[in-house]
Amino acid sequence: MPGQVQIRRVWKPLAHVACALPLAVLLLELLAVGPFRIGPNPALAIRDTLGTWGLRLLLATLAMTPLRLATGQAWPLAFRRLLGLWSFAYVLLHFVTYFVLDRGIELGIILEDVAKRPYITIGTAAFLLMVPLAVTSTAGWRRRLGPRWTRLHRLVYPVAILACWHYYWLVKRDVREPLLYVTVLLMLLGWRLVARRAARRTAPAARPD
Ligand code: HEM
Repeated sequence: MPGQVQIRRVWKPLAHVACALPLAVLLLELLAVGPFRIGPNPALAIRDTLGTWGLRLLLATLAMTPLRLATGQAWPLAFRRLLGLWSFAYVLLHFVTYFVLDRGIELGIILEDVAKRPYITIGTAAFLLMVPLAVTSTAGWRRRLGPRWTRLHRLVYPVAILACWHYYWLVKRDVREPLLYVTVLLMLLGWRLVARRAARRTAPAARPD
């Protein structure tokens, strides 16, 4: 079991490197370094890669509490904020790519998209809900908000539902990949329900947050 110092000095920097890796690969592909090559439509490849990693890291964030209970160790919780913030960074860049490369910074067109294309409406709702979570993720905000912090951060569940929904809706034909994410999400949500029921029957300290 890694100690606090080892987590801070070794595992967290490594986790940052791992989370930054898809971004680095994207950059190498854009610059056509060595064997790295971006597809025929770079804007689309950038947007989709960023969205996919935003979703993967969001689900990884949600997996940390079950991992803590499954292993009986506290270390997974040390990575929750890190993963959540990286997820937010990818989603933010995903949105910026869409805003700048897809829609040429035309606010009118974007508002029309939000109003008329349901998968954009849902993606935007997920993104907007992530903003207060990212802002209040610091220890200072956690202290200031007290028990309200935990309640606020439960928003991560609706965010994940909306994010999976966004992906499922935008795929026109082969829904196998979005369904894979939906399955992972359902397993995480199912676990949470079961753990809450079990916690209600036992000591309040065992309750998942
Ligand atoms: C939590 C928030 C979000 C997540 C996790 C997310 C994730 C994703 C994923 C996984 C894809 C599919 C990538 C692929 O096909 O390989 C995607 C596509 C897309 N997203 Fe998002 N997204 C989010 C928010 C947004 C927002 C706010 C917008 C714009 C306002 C947006 C616009 C798009 C567009 C235009 C596509 C491509 C649609 C197409 O292929 O026709 N997304 N997103």
